[in-house]
Amino acid sequence: MQTRKLGPFTVSAVGLGAMPLSMGDKVSETREQAIATVHAALDAGVTYIDTADIYAPSWDTMGHNEKVVAEALAGYGDTSHVVVGTKGGITRGEGETWGRDGSPAYLRRAVEASLRALDRDVIDLYQWHRPDHWRVYGEVIETFKALQDEGKIRAIGISNADVEEIDVAIEVLGEGGLASVQNEFSPRFRSSRDELEHCGTHGIAFLPWSPLGGSGQRSKEVGRVYPAFHDIGSERGVSAQQVVLAWELGLGAHVIPIPGASQPASITDSMHAVDLPLTDDEVARIEAQFT
Ligand SMILES: NC(=O)c1ccc[n+]([C@@H]2O[C@H](COP(=O)([O-])OP(=O)(O)OC[C@H]3O[C@@H](n4cnc5c(N)ncnc54)[C@H](OP(=O)(O)O)[C@@H]3O)[C@@H](O)[C@H]2O)c1
Repeated sequence: MQTRKLGPFTVSAVGLGAMPLSMGDKVSETREQAIATVHAALDAGVTYIDTADIYAPSWDTMGHNEKVVAEALAGYGDTSHVVVGTKGGITRGEGETWGRDGSPAYLRRAVEASLRALDRDVIDLYQWHRPDHWRVYGEVIETFKALQDEGKIRAIGISNADVEEIDVAIEVLGEGGLASVQNEFSPRFRSSRDELEHCGTHGIAFLPWSPLGGSGQRSKEVGRVYPAFHDIGSERGVSAQQVVLAWELGLGAHVIPIPGASQPASITDSMHAVDLPLTDDEVARIEAQFT
């Protein structure tokens, strides 16, 4: 299994995005299906699972996804090598009102709630989900640093961050202190390529979110909208989705795509991307369709 560095951890080059187990355009139909999906990911060699406190069917079931992941791991034998990353900083309130809160008090409560939902004493990777623009970025990172120093979280990541915000986080945490940046990146959303490259320069893992274009139809139609993925997949006898993930893996040894799945077959197929190095000619054909 090809592995990559994620802060202090070594994880599978492709992780599982757990969001579709609980919410999104296409969601696991039953809890059994959700758990079977996590188990299929583990069977296929996944050792990084990405969740968040807000991944839940409704505002009053926050933590749902973390609990599904915890239940699936608990029912699988030895999973001590599996790294779980969660996120906090986005709020969901009554009537499905969404917001951001980067205050120390809120983040401390969020970390405690995630510890309970994940049934852990320490969170492997805690990611700041989205900036709270009422707050000074570096001061929020200091809150995460304090939580790390207190032993609540092992590694710190940020999400939906630009280059300047990445630099602020590096300044607060020190070179090597920021484990990961999780930004949207896919064939249809390539504008975070600057951040992807910036992370490579600093040895920070870059986790493309919605790496296939998003749950539901977008991910299913990626080969129709971007035919090079379909054509190369046909020539290789693999799915267009595998080719998309192989292309992303080829953008840098620090890139760890986290494709979502609501059913086992999707993540089982996606994991084969780690065994699909693309030729220079195939990469050129993929890049050419974007111009
Ligand atoms: N940080 C953030 O702000 C943020 C925002 C959004 C998402 N995320 C993270 O990113 C993860 C992935 O994003 P996403 O789930 O929105 O989008 P995605 O990974 O681009 O697409 C997920 C969809 O792709 C399908 N799929 C996966 N592998 C496939 C394959 N090999 N063949 C065919 N279909 C396949 C799945 O189908 P099935 O449903 O049929 O299994 C699922 O519906 C999330 O789970 C979450 O962890 C983070």
